[in-house]
Amino acid sequence: MKDSAINKEGLSRIDGRLKVTGAARYSAEYTPAGMVYGVLVGSTITKGSIRSIDTKAAEKAPGVLAVISHFNCPKIPGYQIASTEAGKPEPKGTYKLFYNNKILFNGQPIAVVVADTFERALFAATLVKAQYTSQAYQTSLKNNTASAFAAGENGESKRGTVAAWKTAPVKLEQEYVIPSEVHNPMELHSIIAHWDAEDKLTVWDKTQGVKDTQDGIANIFKIPKENIQVNSKFVGGAFGSALQVWPHEVAAIIAARVVKRPVKLMLGRADMFTSVGYRPHTWQKIGIGATEDGKLVGISHEAIGQTSTYEDFNEEPVSVSRSTYACPNVNTNYKLTALDIGSPTWMRGPGEATGAFALESALDELSYALNIDPIELRLKNYAETDPESGKPFSSKYLNEAYKMGADHIGWTDRSPKPASVTKDGWLIGYGMGGGMFGAYRDQATCRAVMIADGTLLLQTAVSDIGPGTGTAMVSIAAEIMDIPAGKIRFEMGDSSLPYAPSQGGSSITATVGSAVNDACKELKEKFSQLAGNTETPDYTKILKDHNLSKLEVTTASKGGDNMNKYAMYSWSVHFVKVCVHPTTGVVKVDKVVCVADSGHIVSPKTARSQIVGGAIGGIGMALMEEVIIDHRYGKLVNNNFADYHIPVNADIPQIEALFINKPDPYINPMGAKGMGEIALIGMAGAVANAVYNATGKRIRQLPITPDKLI
Ligand code: MOS
Repeated sequence: MKDSAINKEGLSRIDGRLKVTGAARYSAEYTPAGMVYGVLVGSTITKGSIRSIDTKAAEKAPGVLAVISHFNCPKIPGYQIASTEAGKPEPKGTYKLFYNNKILFNGQPIAVVVADTFERALFAATLVKAQYTSQAYQTSLKNNTASAFAAGENGESKRGTVAAWKTAPVKLEQEYVIPSEVHNPMELHSIIAHWDAEDKLTVWDKTQGVKDTQDGIANIFKIPKENIQVNSKFVGGAFGSALQVWPHEVAAIIAARVVKRPVKLMLGRADMFTSVGYRPHTWQKIGIGATEDGKLVGISHEAIGQTSTYEDFNEEPVSVSRSTYACPNVNTNYKLTALDIGSPTWMRGPGEATGAFALESALDELSYALNIDPIELRLKNYAETDPESGKPFSSKYLNEAYKMGADHIGWTDRSPKPASVTKDGWLIGYGMGGGMFGAYRDQATCRAVMIADGTLLLQTAVSDIGPGTGTAMVSIAAEIMDIPAGKIRFEMGDSSLPYAPSQGGSSITATVGSAVNDACKELKEKFSQLAGNTETPDYTKILKDHNLSKLEVTTASKGGDNMNKYAMYSWSVHFVKVCVHPTTGVVKVDKVVCVADSGHIVSPKTARSQIVGGAIGGIGMALMEEVIIDHRYGKLVNNNFADYHIPVNADIPQIEALFINKPDPYINPMGAKGMGEIALIGMAGAVANAVYNATGKRIRQLPITPDKLI
């Protein structure tokens, strides 16, 4: 009965046909009766206050139903509670829409215009005119690092002797900078909000987690979460940008309440650059020292990342230096600088991708200083146990990954001497960089229902931002139930379904997969008991024999209890071959090999896509992506795809995705670890290292654009 396709190259995406034919409906593609449209008006100043807003012309424009700003916005109860603690400074937190007259960043929503058509709302929004009082603002990280403050609990960490690297025979100290980068998934962020009754709300929303969005809205509007229905059946990409309730979502919900009709609010592409977070611009400095034979003596890793004035956004840029390599002395320091720009948010490999660019570049620089091959240097400092906690790793086959990747890229063709190889007028170079990310497993619940016709229905509230979660879950269930994948229906993206956490932190296969695994095993057991035998049950026959229309279980899977016994990480290594044109500085990525140690691979086809997507993101990070702010105005200038460059098909070579594919014995029943983040983490360093090998030019400030190479 087994679907042989699952066992060889893996199941094809169960929703692939729906996606490529346009049959998949995304959150903006619903039309509740009476739906109208909201368009946001953004602040044209960067800091200060609103004196007045003239909404008369907009209100008189055809089809306009309402113009809402802080002047007439109904009180939002969740905001008020946080701020009524008299005498205390306003607590920091996510941005509060239409809360007062303060302007905290350029483009901040100051009003929402609601009209009967999108075009009329868009036009009327241009008629809203605000008068402001401007204040001086700071939007440059570089000019404001002196005001940086400790980044909460991730702030400072010491192991062994501080600055021990300075006493090492071979040492270097360098600064590494990444600009801020924006998510810009293909699908624009969008919400449709519909109040079914005074305190009952339905939303169709782009979100990474329907349950978290339900909680988030309940907290802001102070209504019972059971009264909020969140639907997010398909998500056209998100990797951190849809993990929180953003102002545009609050605006639509408020607008729907005011006009008493369902309101759709979809961000325009330009707003996607300023309204749903970004990877923070981050300055880093690494000091690293080793013995002559390449044993690490010490690492010092400092980082200063940008945040906003109203929220302390924290990630973990320096953690990679504490757990990647065996090193007795490591001190890290992470600070934030508050700028007059909207808050950053998590973005694929949040923190680790930033930190790994610096660490993997520094290791590469050290390898040249020592005249030791970069792989050999990493193997000399291979951590057999977690150097930070001292705990054993639940699994780690990174050494095998180095070897596999080196074989596939043709590492032996690499010349250890920079700028020494040319072909057809192009400089050729090879580089590598590694990634790591915690392997997490959280709680989740799955309902499994076997229906009389032999269909297995699986239900859990997870949403799928793109990796192919449904496909992975069906793969797990088909294997356990021993039925063809085509007989399994996976339902998700609906807050009325059993609990699943948000899709984030590369944890969903481990988390929801465990719930699917446990539910299927329990259901199968129930059938075996009914039939009085333990062999593979004939589900339809048993249901018929017992006169049942279905048999179901709802099974909760707890989070990983082995997490305190073992250090759990996924590991990756990226190998890159580049060609650099000596005259124009153009970098062509010629070949990429990525090897992931992600435990057992439950869904090989979608796993491959995940790695390829991460590698492409890493190439973008290394060579193209950069938010540019004109500090004279505090305004983002390249808020479009013509000026903000991301890789296109022609920029991307063949990418080989390889897997160690050995189960982790401790994390979950499948032995599967995450891979979403490690697909990107380390990739930018690998590209930068390849560029150095090709050219002898060490670029420590991303992106590596041609002007930096000529
Ligand atoms: Mo998150 S950065 O969506 O794992």
